[in-house]
Amino acid sequence: MKKLKPQVDLSINFAGIRLKNPVLTASGTFGYGEEFAEFVDLNRLGGVIVKGISLKPIKGNPPPRIWETPSGMLNAIGLENPGVDVFLKEKLPYLRKFDTAVFVNVFGYSLEDYVGVVERLSDAPGITALEVNISCPNVKAGGIVFGTNVKAAFDLLSAVRKATKLPVIAKLSPNVTDITEFAKAARDAGCDGLSLINTLLGMAIDVRCRRPRLANCTGGLSGPAIRPVAVRMVWQTAQAVQLPIIGMGGIMTGEDALEFVLAGASAVAVGTANFVNPRATLEVLEGMEQIMQEQGLADIKDLIGKVSIG
Ligand SMILES: Cc1cc2nc3c(=O)[nH]c(=O)nc-3n(C[C@H](O)[C@H](O)[C@H](O)COP(=O)(O)O)c2cc1C
Repeated sequence: MKKLKPQVDLSINFAGIRLKNPVLTASGTFGYGEEFAEFVDLNRLGGVIVKGISLKPIKGNPPPRIWETPSGMLNAIGLENPGVDVFLKEKLPYLRKFDTAVFVNVFGYSLEDYVGVVERLSDAPGITALEVNISCPNVKAGGIVFGTNVKAAFDLLSAVRKATKLPVIAKLSPNVTDITEFAKAARDAGCDGLSLINTLLGMAIDVRCRRPRLANCTGGLSGPAIRPVAVRMVWQTAQAVQLPIIGMGGIMTGEDALEFVLAGASAVAVGTANFVNPRATLEVLEGMEQIMQEQGLADIKDLIGKVSIG
């Protein structure tokens, strides 16, 4: 008689939000969900984190905006998006039809910008939580990047926290010496969770033309090339603060995702992999389930932060 496979419980509680499984989409790599619905049944995902939304529409950078690198890619899209009003009118109603959590990634170029977009989103039904991308220059403060200055990050996240009742997840930049300082600032500002990591700042040059590969000169590095950095940062952060973490950076398979869970992430987000394989999110989910079955593990919650040291 064929042996029945044991049931695996992949559901988690993330900052008071029940997710049917921990697999999410990383912001900017899955559009607003609709773009991938032909390949992925969105009902099967733990949640969709949408492309970053700002108060006003942004055109983004001139091309070339993407360059493939060994085991990764550089991008300098420039946060192109239609703005919060178009998002609420045209993008959110589609996503709300699915049985999946909706995380809205937000950003701005001043504290007031962030608060403005957060206030507009807070009254809209169907949003599960906000993910705040702090990797933006504060134009009012001479361009210092919110995510690389602890005080600026704290002030920004405190203002966002006061502006909404929705759960607030701070998305941290890896372009810092000690990411745990920023995790503590997010906790002290009252954030409910953390997302890490965003892209690592990089550059590539065409030797024959002697010009940068990206029109913007520099760009964000993502994909498997950054995974060990991301796993290390998730692990360090999980030791330093109690907040739940969404881990991301080069997740291509279920095995990659479980690395992040063992390091201390409660949920994971799949990013660059979506460009290689539009079904990557579901394959990551199935891969996690398969490894847990092979290992005789019944509940994902028992694996969070359980890497054995020493
Ligand atoms: C093309 C592209 C666009 C992105 N846009 C955003 C964005 O709008 N907001 C944000 O917080 N992160 C953005 N990211 C960062 C990803 O969400 C993710 O943090 C990063 O790429 C690491 O994960 P990955 O290696 O699986 O892609 C973007 C990444 C890529 C590759």
